[in-house]
Amino acid sequence: MAKLIKGGTIVTASDMYEADVLIEDEKIAAIGTDFDAEEAEIIDATGNYLFPGGIDPHTHLDMPFGGTVTCDDFESGTIAAAYGGTTTIIDFCLTNKGEPLQKAVNTWHEKSQHKAVIDYGFHLMIGEANEAILNELPVIIEEEGITSFKVFMAYKHVFQADDETLFRTLVEAKKLGALVMVHAENGDVIEYLVTKALSEGNTSPIYHALTRPPELEGEATGRAAELTGLAGSQLYVVHVSCAEAVKKITEARSKGYQVWGETCPQYLLLDQTDLEKENFEGAKYVWSPPLREKWNQEVLWNALKSGQLQTFGSDQCSFHFNGQKDLGRDDFSKIPNGGPMIEDRFSLLFSEGVKKGRISLNQFVDLVSTKSAKLFGLFPKKGTIAVGSDADIVIFDPNKKRTISASTHHMNVDYNAFEGMEVTGEPVSVLSRGEFVIKDKAFTGKPGAGKYLKRSRFRSESELKMPVQHR
Ligand code: URP
Ligand code: ZN
Ligand code: ZN
Repeated sequence: MAKLIKGGTIVTASDMYEADVLIEDEKIAAIGTDFDAEEAEIIDATGNYLFPGGIDPHTHLDMPFGGTVTCDDFESGTIAAAYGGTTTIIDFCLTNKGEPLQKAVNTWHEKSQHKAVIDYGFHLMIGEANEAILNELPVIIEEEGITSFKVFMAYKHVFQADDETLFRTLVEAKKLGALVMVHAENGDVIEYLVTKALSEGNTSPIYHALTRPPELEGEATGRAAELTGLAGSQLYVVHVSCAEAVKKITEARSKGYQVWGETCPQYLLLDQTDLEKENFEGAKYVWSPPLREKWNQEVLWNALKSGQLQTFGSDQCSFHFNGQKDLGRDDFSKIPNGGPMIEDRFSLLFSEGVKKGRISLNQFVDLVSTKSAKLFGLFPKKGTIAVGSDADIVIFDPNKKRTISASTHHMNVDYNAFEGMEVTGEPVSVLSRGEFVIKDKAFTGKPGAGKYLKRSRFRSESELKMPVQHR
């Protein structure tokens, strides 16, 4: 049955206007006023914004890491995402050295296909770049629609790849039309600093930050950017946390290199002192890169406002405090890295960004949705409210206040890093391809209803100004 959303204010990355939205067959069929749509279900959105569904470009659901597995899977994680206004996620598919890439992709399909309640795609980790792996890439792009590859420059002995692997991946990505993503920290030096700290008896969570100083993020970001320039390729730096990394991205962009950067809620709103909380509570704030000194937050906000950072990911990577984070009670290096963020990403940016005057409404939409759609081959199917696009729409009350708490969130995790924080603005209803997944704040979706997204090849921003095909 067709649906007609009436009375809302449509906000895209470029426009804001009052109009009604007609939805038919999963798509936006028309935008305008005075529709003759007697058959349609009428949805009253008076007083609310209509945003394109959020796109979270950075999640780790059901992922083995740090001797355990993230506690949100594709069901609980995507339900929480939907409550928060996100209708598409791109999750990181991990690979194992010595194994075909396709095997890892199959594993990720098994984890997700009967569970996801919203649409999803995969980025693929590249841990080695031998001939067999490089030969697989065209097939992975063509058959699986995976058009972004992730190289870890940190997590030595686990995920870390060497510079040759990064460079060869950049060269292949340029040839094939894919975007290379990096976790940019110098893993070799971190390994040395961690071993030294532990040998000196420094075991508490704050040493996680002290052994991963910002210089090592800046150095790796600059190295990756220079290799990108040399290869004439394209790079996306995930979870940028500090001024040193922003500087390297800004420098690279000013040289004309195709380099983009993402930051996450934790780096804008939390800081290094959180790692010093008593009773091992600091473990809840262990991310890599680590939380930084507070003054970095202003640098990150300014970079979002000025466009030097372009996207906003959750880096959703949840571990229970009891039973998972406490694996590192006697050794900070054993605390699983990451935190729950998929649900609150969207409203935290609205509340702290738009409501506090740090970014505009259009920038908000670009950051939480549109730019990721463009960079990751989903635009204009996703990431905007336009005729022909998927009807992924968030009906958002901009004035509703809510207090974040683990007792009310929908993530399958026993704490929330923003416990007790009041945010303004809340998704009321969320549609995924024209069906309600959240209706009047209640979940109405279905595990397995989310579709796997084969994504288009990478296109530069200038190419995207030209008309593109729906896949
Ligand atoms: O601490 C983090 N960021 N955990 C998730 C894995 C990663 O490095 O993105
Ligand atoms: Zn990372
Ligand atoms: Zn991550």
